[in-house]
Amino acid sequence: MEEITALAKRRGFIFQSSEIYGGINGFWDYGPLGALLKRNVKNAWWRDTVELRDDVVAFDSSIVMHPSVWKASGHLDVFHDLMVDCKTCKHRFRLDHLKDRSKCPDCGSKDSFTEPRNFNLMMKTFVGPMEDTSAVTYLRPETAQGIFVNFKNVYQTARKRPPFGIAQIGKSFRNEITPGNFTFRVREFEQAELEYFVPDDGNDMAAFEQWVQRRKAWYAAYGIDAERLRFYELTDAERPHYAKAGIDVEYLFPWGWGELESIAHRGTYDLDAHMKLSGKDLRFFDEAAKRHYTPLLIESSAGMDRTALTFLVDAYERETSVDPNGKTVERTVLRFHSAIAPIQIAVFSLARNRADLVERATGIEAALRPHFRTQYDEGNIGQLYRRQDEIGTPFCVTIDHQTLDDASVTVRARDSMLQERVQAQQLEAYVRERL
Ligand code: GAP
Repeated sequence: MEEITALAKRRGFIFQSSEIYGGINGFWDYGPLGALLKRNVKNAWWRDTVELRDDVVAFDSSIVMHPSVWKASGHLDVFHDLMVDCKTCKHRFRLDHLKDRSKCPDCGSKDSFTEPRNFNLMMKTFVGPMEDTSAVTYLRPETAQGIFVNFKNVYQTARKRPPFGIAQIGKSFRNEITPGNFTFRVREFEQAELEYFVPDDGNDMAAFEQWVQRRKAWYAAYGIDAERLRFYELTDAERPHYAKAGIDVEYLFPWGWGELESIAHRGTYDLDAHMKLSGKDLRFFDEAAKRHYTPLLIESSAGMDRTALTFLVDAYERETSVDPNGKTVERTVLRFHSAIAPIQIAVFSLARNRADLVERATGIEAALRPHFRTQYDEGNIGQLYRRQDEIGTPFCVTIDHQTLDDASVTVRARDSMLQERVQAQQLEAYVRERL
């Protein structure tokens, strides 16, 4: 994990937030490559969950909502972690994270913990010019509630009837007591949530199972190692009382299994809660049957920062191999799926000081740019390859003296390190086929 964290910083994937002021715990910034990586992960989710389905519509709700939303959802009353403070070093810990409840993991003091206390994880803020209790509200701890309170607006305007889904990707905030494991547990993160509403006609468990299979297929399609991914079925005791079924999608990180996504059958719990507190009818009116009913809810909620981290960890490899010239080479390579890779093709000029080569190479890069995520670079070819391997670029294209004679370029594949001479004219088709 240390190697991956170092690479993420060195190559501009992820930086500590506010680093020049010493950082702020639980917050991270995505650099040029990290921003692309996360965007690609979100696009891959959006493509599969929204664009490829005629039964899912897009949504984007505000981060700050009426405080009653959090009363109804239960977040104000039960969104707590139990925490203890060490009286010696004053550090705070989540009770369920302590391996030994009698010894402080930071300073080693024995029996120095305070009594466990509840700590609400929502971040508070004030809306408007007055900082009094009537102005208190919260940064959303999940995006889902914005969808529930708009359920009627959406189904009426989008003219949808269950089964149908509403999806959104957006920031959520949780004042985690112990953020850690790089970007895994943070205080500001992005969630991709699908809320899929189904009729109460007995097919709800089938819909739940379909989404589980769809999400399984998604991770597989983007090449996540099946051996390091598991779909853990929650037991009755582990699920909230209202949930009929629940599955946690977990990845085996270097520190152990960690949750990426939760898929849950939440029944009518969320709509019921908002109907009760707001007094508004959010039921669906079935024209054909002439009856109102409350749809059941299947939710898939994935953390995009955790998923991006998973792609990074899963792609990472230190490799010793023999190159096509028989030389033993050691390299670090990120074996990203081509849809996830921040850069798909790097184009090099072999010599920095040759205007004709540079012009040719930048021209080729510009021609590829509308079709792929590309980058131009120049200099020492060994160093250029090493850099692109480390950021996971599937193909490198080199323009050399021969290019000026016969319009051919060298294409080098990241995974096999094999090099092929290809006509510049055919480059787009060649790469498209292989990506
Ligand atoms: N609406 C359901 C919901 O929010 P959750 O299991 O609390 O369910 C869903 O969160 C996902 O959001 C998690 O599986 C995780 O990927 C992500 N997530 C939750 N807390 C997080 C945190 N502190 N840092 C990063 N990601 C987090």
